[in-house]
Amino acid sequence: MGNDARQYAPSAARNRDPIWEVLRPHLPARGLVLEVASGSGEHTVHFARASDSELVYQPSDPDPLARASIDAWAAASGLANIRPSIALDAAADVWPIECVDVVVCINMIHISPWSSAVGLMRGAGRVLPAGGLLFLYGPYRREGRHMTPSNEAFDQDLRRRNPEWGVRNLEGVADLAGQAGFGPPAIAQMPANNLSILFRRTE
Ligand SMILES: C[S@@+](CC[C@H](N)C(=O)[O-])C[C@H]1O[C@@H](n2cnc3c(N)ncnc32)[C@H](O)[C@@H]1O
Repeated sequence: MGNDARQYAPSAARNRDPIWEVLRPHLPARGLVLEVASGSGEHTVHFARASDSELVYQPSDPDPLARASIDAWAAASGLANIRPSIALDAAADVWPIECVDVVVCINMIHISPWSSAVGLMRGAGRVLPAGGLLFLYGPYRREGRHMTPSNEAFDQDLRRRNPEWGVRNLEGVADLAGQAGFGPPAIAQMPANNLSILFRRTE
């Protein structure tokens, strides 16, 4: 595959270092990290490059053009700790992978129907062991309120584009996580009014 399949997400270039600073201390030295909704693949490559070679990354996306981009970025990186991308729809009852150590999902649940958030939590609960980490990143409402006017405008724009999309309530996402066997969230405030949210599977 030629490198011309690579897509460039300006937001990924901006947020990958702040996300890595929060995520890095919680990652194991070795194991398998599943990224759900990898998009262009730039986060996977950035994280894999900064990780020990025994920490292996499994990127995924339901969109074939995204998977072509992911695999092109991985090939260009020359890194051995990135697996070929897989087609994974978070909302599906069965995922094409059974057991991982970490699940990472960046900027997906507000740009997808609520069923994707439900499926993400259930799926992460299925594939993670007790103690396993689910890491989310994106904009959230808290107790029904937007964190900033710009997040509210972003939410309105999302809902105009697709009525099933929208900035989610952190409490609703935490409830889903609890039902899927995760403990309460650890929350880090991020640049541009985003949050990093870390859940540990308890059961
Ligand atoms: C805004 S992009 C974010 C991509 C990347 N994580 C980033 O931050 O640059 C949203 C991604 O979510 C993916 N997506 C949408 N619905 C999904 C679902 N149900 N399961 C998995 N991925 C989904 C899309 O294909 C797209 O690649």
